[in-house]
Amino acid sequence: MAVEDKQVTWGGRFSDQPDLLMQVFGESVSFDKRLAPFDLQGSLAHASMLAHVGLLSENEFSEIKTGIEVLIEEIKSPDFSWKLELEDVHMNLEQALLEKTGAAAKLHTGRSRNDQVATDMRLFFKDACNQLSEKLELAMKSILGLAKKYANLPIPGYTHLQRAQPVTVGHHLLAHLEALGRDHERLSQVADHANVCPLGSGAIAGSTLPLDRAYTAKVLGFVDQAGEPRITANGMDAVADRDIFLEFAMACVNCSLHLSRLAEDVILWNSSEFGFIQLPDSFTTGSSLMPQKKNPDSFELIRGKTGRIVGNLQNLCVAIKGLPLTYNRDLQEDKPPVFDSFDQLSMCLAVVAGSLSDSTFHEENCRTAASDPLLLATDLADYLVERGVPFRSAHHFIGELVALAEKKKVSLPDLEQGDALEVCSELGENWREVFNLSRAFEMRERPGMPGPNQIKGRVEHWEKLLLS
Ligand code: ARG
Repeated sequence: MAVEDKQVTWGGRFSDQPDLLMQVFGESVSFDKRLAPFDLQGSLAHASMLAHVGLLSENEFSEIKTGIEVLIEEIKSPDFSWKLELEDVHMNLEQALLEKTGAAAKLHTGRSRNDQVATDMRLFFKDACNQLSEKLELAMKSILGLAKKYANLPIPGYTHLQRAQPVTVGHHLLAHLEALGRDHERLSQVADHANVCPLGSGAIAGSTLPLDRAYTAKVLGFVDQAGEPRITANGMDAVADRDIFLEFAMACVNCSLHLSRLAEDVILWNSSEFGFIQLPDSFTTGSSLMPQKKNPDSFELIRGKTGRIVGNLQNLCVAIKGLPLTYNRDLQEDKPPVFDSFDQLSMCLAVVAGSLSDSTFHEENCRTAASDPLLLATDLADYLVERGVPFRSAHHFIGELVALAEKKKVSLPDLEQGDALEVCSELGENWREVFNLSRAFEMRERPGMPGPNQIKGRVEHWEKLLLS
């Protein structure tokens, strides 16, 4: 059998080509071709190291370098021919390079697809975290814009989806912003964990050749803050480890869960029952049947896609669970879930940014909802505490007052003074002054509370981080 009838990369040991079904079943190029820019970057660094240690001549390196530079351009075209029979992005690119220069036959010296794919993915994760961070910042800016504009607009805050205590739109939106801020930090941590170079680990046990791993790591930018190379410490771990996949997938889960909870708030606020927010036409859709409908599909899809992103993490955990060290072909299935989480989360973030930046609040509806005096029942208990009543008793008295008002079909501050004093003699003449939202917010000027200066302070904090 002529050499070219065999599988070009590993055909030596085999007398037959893989079955067509096996080729279709085993290929990953349909999805891992998106790693091509990273794969070429890795190959260039590896070749440069091989030349540095004398395993490639200057001339061979220069031919490989030129070939890779041409390929970097060629792969941008949709016409680039990816071949299924070459299995994956790594073998496709090596073959494409070989067509340009015979020197490419030396490129895989001291390298395995195992450390190659681990390197490609670490480069991918560093880039993906940066891209997500940028998109996250845009989403955060939109939320911040609304939080600032409606900083002191009162709305009810809810627990159990029951009116609990008054807050402001600023306080509520900043709560989402704090959560997303932690996601931003998490993405930086994932990028930092990805910043370690596996190249030189080979299949599992490195190579007998005089590879200079630190050199490759430096060329690829796997360096610490002082510019010192960061390389993996164990070749078996380097090719078997998928921690970084899990960390990335989990960072996406965390962020999408935050977006999903934000989405749920927006969906509720957008309902006729709440009527707090007006979403732009551009991010809502109509009904095919009911002409009056304007549905918050963008936010419902964020909720829906979050399920998918959670599933991707689960997918990875299950794929990895029972694998013995080191590389097993199951691991080829590790890429679609992380690519999908990246793609879906990127879109969710862009949708949040686009839709919220054009949303407005219905101020009247918000104020009306927040004027429910029961929202200040806890403040009335605090009032009694200030008059020396133990909180547990104060809580009980106010509970009785609420029940009495309900029975008499009046609102809490409209109870007769005599009736109120009968329930709780510690109530002063001025207890109704509690039912004043401005007072309620002004008395909450401590960190973490919705006092106007607190909100202003946090808005300024986020402005400094996001807008400077
Ligand atoms: N396409 C493979 C993957 O993504 C590359 C690594 C192949 N390694 C191997 N020993 N067959 O996992």
